[in-house]
Amino acid sequence: MVKIAPSILSADFARLGEEIREVEQGGADWIHVDVMDGHFVPNLTIGPLVVKAIRPHTNLTLDVHLMIENADAYIPEFAKSGADIITVHQEACVHLHRTLYHIKNQGVKAAVSLNPATPVSTLEHVLEDLDMVLLMSVNPGFGGQKFIPGVVRKIEQLKSMLAERGLADSVDIQIDGGINAETAPLVTKAGATCLVAGNAVFGREDRAGAIADIRKSCES
Ligand code: DX5
Ligand code: ZN
Repeated sequence: MVKIAPSILSADFARLGEEIREVEQGGADWIHVDVMDGHFVPNLTIGPLVVKAIRPHTNLTLDVHLMIENADAYIPEFAKSGADIITVHQEACVHLHRTLYHIKNQGVKAAVSLNPATPVSTLEHVLEDLDMVLLMSVNPGFGGQKFIPGVVRKIEQLKSMLAERGLADSVDIQIDGGINAETAPLVTKAGATCLVAGNAVFGREDRAGAIADIRKSCES
């Protein structure tokens, strides 16, 4: 079954604990935390303090998406704050292999994200070292953007690269950006196993209904 990871970027930050409990009760699988530095992406969001603050409010996997430069310097603090999986951007990591082992050495799962214009072939030599690949379906920086359909072909390419290496069942394929009940089936049919949804979940009063609608759309 596809995992759904609501992105707190679209939540009410003044009521973050309650927002997270609501989506947990509403059937979310993971909580997606978008960290932006104003350098790698043109927006500023949150740091390890917020991860630490939300940790006691949920038992769900805290899925921390670092859209930052110099990730190595901040990985230990995010790990200590309670991150279960840390995703770095291929485009922001000069020594990607080293960074992945830096994450794993903290006892945290390691993932890499690719922007819409970055080919999946850039991950060829680190696939064995990954727990997940995050393919962006918008240019990172903001919630509520429009889904870029080119990601579908990238999912298919990544899926066959993983299958060739016998990794299809052990590496998650996560899609992030513009996911809703219309776009979710396009990506799950292609092989996505985990969907991030910000606006589609927190933009609706009925969070459980929003999550159920995305799940249902993938079943048909
Ligand atoms: C974009 C972030 C996403 C974003 C998704 O830079 O990485 O996680 O919050 O939001 P929606 O689902 O609204 O596109
Ligand atoms: Zn994200």
